[in-house]
Amino acid sequence: MNKKLSYLAGIMAVILIPAIGFAQNTGQAKMDQFVSALMKKMTLEEKIGQLNLPSVGFDVTGPILSKDVDAKIKKGLVGGVFNTYTPSAARKLQALALTTRLKIPLLFGYDVIHGHRTIFPIPLGLSSSWDLALIQSTARAAAEEASADGINWVFSPMVDLTRDPRWGRVAEGAGEDTWYGSKVAAAMVHGYQGNNLAANNAVMACVKHFALYGAVEAGRDYNVVDMSERKMRQDYLPPYKAAIDAGAGSVMSSFNEINGVPAAANQWLLTDLLRKQWGFTGMVATDYTAIMELTNHGIGDSTEAAHLALVAGNDMDMVSELYLNKLPKLVKTGKLNISYIDQACRRVLEAKYKLGLFADPYRGISEERAQAEIMNPQKLELAQRAAEESMVLLKNKNGTLPLKSNAKIAFVGPLVKDQRNLIGNWSGAGDWKKATSFWDVVNAQYPGAHFTYAKGCNLLDDTALINKLNPHDAQIVLDSKSAEELIEEAVKEAKNADVAVAFLGESFTMSGEAASRSDIGLPANQKRLLAALKKTGKPVVLVLMNGRPLTLSWEDTRMDAIVESWFGGTRSGEALVNTLFGRSNFSGRLTMSFPRSVGQIPIYYNEKSTGRPFDANQKYSSKYLDIANTPLYPFGYGLSYTTFKYGPITLDKKTIRTKGNITATINVTNTGQRDAIETVQLYIRDIIGTVTRPMKELKGFKQIAIKAGNTQTVSFTISTDDLKFYNLQNKYTYEPGDFELMIGPNSQDLQKIPFKVE
Ligand code: BGC
Repeated sequence: MNKKLSYLAGIMAVILIPAIGFAQNTGQAKMDQFVSALMKKMTLEEKIGQLNLPSVGFDVTGPILSKDVDAKIKKGLVGGVFNTYTPSAARKLQALALTTRLKIPLLFGYDVIHGHRTIFPIPLGLSSSWDLALIQSTARAAAEEASADGINWVFSPMVDLTRDPRWGRVAEGAGEDTWYGSKVAAAMVHGYQGNNLAANNAVMACVKHFALYGAVEAGRDYNVVDMSERKMRQDYLPPYKAAIDAGAGSVMSSFNEINGVPAAANQWLLTDLLRKQWGFTGMVATDYTAIMELTNHGIGDSTEAAHLALVAGNDMDMVSELYLNKLPKLVKTGKLNISYIDQACRRVLEAKYKLGLFADPYRGISEERAQAEIMNPQKLELAQRAAEESMVLLKNKNGTLPLKSNAKIAFVGPLVKDQRNLIGNWSGAGDWKKATSFWDVVNAQYPGAHFTYAKGCNLLDDTALINKLNPHDAQIVLDSKSAEELIEEAVKEAKNADVAVAFLGESFTMSGEAASRSDIGLPANQKRLLAALKKTGKPVVLVLMNGRPLTLSWEDTRMDAIVESWFGGTRSGEALVNTLFGRSNFSGRLTMSFPRSVGQIPIYYNEKSTGRPFDANQKYSSKYLDIANTPLYPFGYGLSYTTFKYGPITLDKKTIRTKGNITATINVTNTGQRDAIETVQLYIRDIIGTVTRPMKELKGFKQIAIKAGNTQTVSFTISTDDLKFYNLQNKYTYEPGDFELMIGPNSQDLQKIPFKVE
């Protein structure tokens, strides 16, 4: 910029910046005025009504159903509803709310988790794309569809960090890393909320589950969490904070207890930390019946539960109706100060104001808009790209993949022709019938090819498990043929083919909420099929659909190629055809370690050193007698149809001084025959600290497209801010000393170079 321009820019900044501040202040002041005036007119019952969040409509996502919701809306006893959508359903209920004395519009919430009608890969899959812009676009697309469908509030993103793949809800999050999880959290919030929450196509995000839900003991859902404050602040809390800093309008408190106090009754968590320390000014809702469940936690009867939950900082009561039933008396008997109700009511009304609901309670919903937005070609195209980018190639011996379309291929397994599982869990408004099976896509795209099919096995043959899953729509029907007959048919097809491709994994109901598993391997009957295929001597490709890291040691030693396709969403059939036949290259990288065995859990890449680090030759070192310490497939790992070579790392200087930074540069060469995308990852290690530090921590990554044979130079600049942590005094700071900087294609395969901080 020349001098004159920069002078003008300076003047403009002086004029504009206070003006923007003023505009925001007047916006805030207007909202305060509006809400205060409204609240002056409200009775105690009406205020408490605003705190009530019943479930209505087609879905149940918890143990009980809300009753007489329409009647309660008409009486002004409902602040928002969830589990219903479509313009007509939303209009009908909103119209009821507008018949009340004060005509306060309703919030319409829904679990829009990985798309609304167009379903994208499950969040764990999507996170494996390492494509933050893509992730944000999927949230934006979901917001456009959901808002057109009458929803203004989504119960997403789930940002619970987790190191335990037994927990079924790993499917809903972005994996095990704090830094990366924080980036994904912010991208999702930006996608949902856009630049203006009042815009008709924006929806309010709800960051969940606050907090630490991903650390439930033994990976068993809803279980206890006990964790040091340093570990919380260092590892588990930053993704929630990142979502809040990105402007998330609401937070959902979690089911679990934290160090003896359930999150839903935890004043330290919901008020001291969230509001006083982090400055969150939005709204907090409980999780489904969480206030009612406080009695099971054993901290009081239902009246005390309501009291504790409100005082702790929950503004809305999801489904329990204990606010509705208990708070009036608590206030009237002087046991509860009405200021708590006023505060919660104000936050709910503010959320409605920010969403523009008082200006237009219907937010421009119409059947026409829904038709134009829902599953339009752009969204379907995005779904396909997202599915392709999410898939991870775990193994590819001797270039077994890509498949050749002129080869004889035996496609086997219960998921080859499956549609129901493709869209995965938490896809309530998604229609699985709109997802085309792999088999239909592959035949449509390669007519006349030599493809055969055999089911090979049932998805599961454990009837006790099937009986648990089928009431939740697993749709597992045992084949009339015996297991032996099914295998025999598949073996016959494999013998006649050049290659066998087995589509196996989990039922979608085996991950998500209330779907913890103690054994995270492939079901035994599926393994029997794989063993029989292997025996044919033909190359075997294993294509997985599942919602969590699986233990695949057995498969890894026997299969020629393994593809992790997660539950890829509406367009996963198309995406699988593209990647398996090599029309697209694989670029996904794992965001959770795949253990060798459940015995290694919790397992995560950024572990610390012990006093007796692993040493194969030393008995008294930290290791297992029966298994390696390392995961089978590490965090950040994934193969491509090409190969990459990393040159040496160079640093622009050897020392960072206070507030300075350092730039690391590396050349990455695509040494194979195919154009590809590589995710170059940067890790650091702080070698000595006042408290012990992890052996590596992700601090950056760059996704680069490299043409076959080409080299690209990649640079990362990190500053002392990137080296901060909670030290012995619990101060978030960096400590001078020796560090290591590491760059590579995944968390295990790294080159390192030392640097100092002064
Ligand atoms: C889940 C939440 C979800 C809520 C509403 C609960 O059971 O834990 O993630 O948002 O139900 O459906």
